[in-house]
Amino acid sequence: MERELALEFARVTEAAALAASRWVGLGNKIAADDAATTAMRVMFDSVPIKGVVVIGEGEMDEAPMLYIGEQVGAGGPHAPEVDIAVDPLEGTNVVAKGMTNSIAVLAIAPRGTLLHAPDMYMDKIAAGPACKGRVFLDAPVKENVREVAKALNKAVSEVTVVVLDRPRHQEIIDQIRSVGARVRLITDGDISPAVATGYADSGVDLMLGIGGAPEGVIAAAAMKCLGGEFQGRLYPEDDAQIERCHQMGIADVKRLYRLDDLVQTDDVIFSATGITDAFMLKGVHYIQGHAFTQTLVMRSKSGTIRLIEANHDLNRKPFFHDPRIKIKMI
Ligand code: FBP
Repeated sequence: MERELALEFARVTEAAALAASRWVGLGNKIAADDAATTAMRVMFDSVPIKGVVVIGEGEMDEAPMLYIGEQVGAGGPHAPEVDIAVDPLEGTNVVAKGMTNSIAVLAIAPRGTLLHAPDMYMDKIAAGPACKGRVFLDAPVKENVREVAKALNKAVSEVTVVVLDRPRHQEIIDQIRSVGARVRLITDGDISPAVATGYADSGVDLMLGIGGAPEGVIAAAAMKCLGGEFQGRLYPEDDAQIERCHQMGIADVKRLYRLDDLVQTDDVIFSATGITDAFMLKGVHYIQGHAFTQTLVMRSKSGTIRLIEANHDLNRKPFFHDPRIKIKMI
C-alpha cells in the first residue's frame, strides 16, 4: 500500500471522532456510534482503495453501514485491494457517559491478510517490543509480569498492567497484585491500552484479559507496526458461538493466534483518533469555533509512527457542528 494512504486513513478516523465527540456525555451510545459510523463510511468513499470490511459493525442484516463484507472506497484502476477492520467508536458507553478512553480506529491490510474474527470474546495479551517473544498467553500471569519487569529492566513493583474491570478478571487481578505489580483497571476500551504497551513512556507495560475478538485484531495490527507482542485465543461462550466459528472456517476454536496469524502481512496501516482522552491520545476538544484532534497513524512497512495534531475550522466544516446535520464531503 502506498504511504500516502496513511494520511487518508487519518482523515477517516478524524471524521469519525469529530462526529462521535458531539455525543460525549449525552447518554446516547447508539446515536454516538451511528454518527461515528456514518462519518467513517462517507470518508471512505473518498479514499482510492477497493476495500472490503472484514471487521465492522456487524453482519449485513444487523448493520446498515460498515457491515462485514461491505465494499468501500473510491476504487480506480490503481486502487489496492484491501481488508478493512474498523471500530468507528471504540468505547460506546464511555462516550455516552462522558468518560475517558474512547477512540475511532481502523486497520487496513492487503486483501486476505487480516483474521476475520467472529464477534465474540478473545483472551488477549499485549506487550511492547522489549517483551517480544518473552510473554505468552498460556504462561501463568505471575510469570508474564516478572518477565516484563526483566525485559524492561524495572522492579516488578514498577510494572503496570491494564485490565478491563470485569468480574471475570478477578483471578488475573489477584495474580498480578500477589507479585506486587500495579493493576490499572479500565471500564471499557482495550485497544488503546494494548497500543500503549508499545510505548516505553506510556505508563502501561502489559495488557491482559478477555475482551472483544474484533478489537483484538485491530490491536494486533497496531502491535505489528510498533514491533510489539500480541497473542489471542477466541473465547466462545456457548455452542452457538462455537458453531459461528465453524461457519467462519475456524475449525480449532482453541487455537492460539500469534501476531502473524492475526495480521498475516508486514504491510498494515493503523489509524486511531481520540474521541475522549485515551491512552496515548487526547480527545476532541473545542476552542473558539475550532475542533482539535490527535491521531496516531502507523505503517508497519516503514515502521513510521506519526502523531498528527489537527485543527479543524468548524465554520468551513459545518456538518461537524451539529450531530443532526448529515456529514458530506467538501
Ligand atoms: P464497545 O465500543 O462496543 O462498547 O466495546 C468496548 C469494549 O470495552 C472493548 O474495548 C472490549 O474489548 C469489550 O468492549 C469488552 O466487552 P465487555 O464490555 O462485554 O466486557
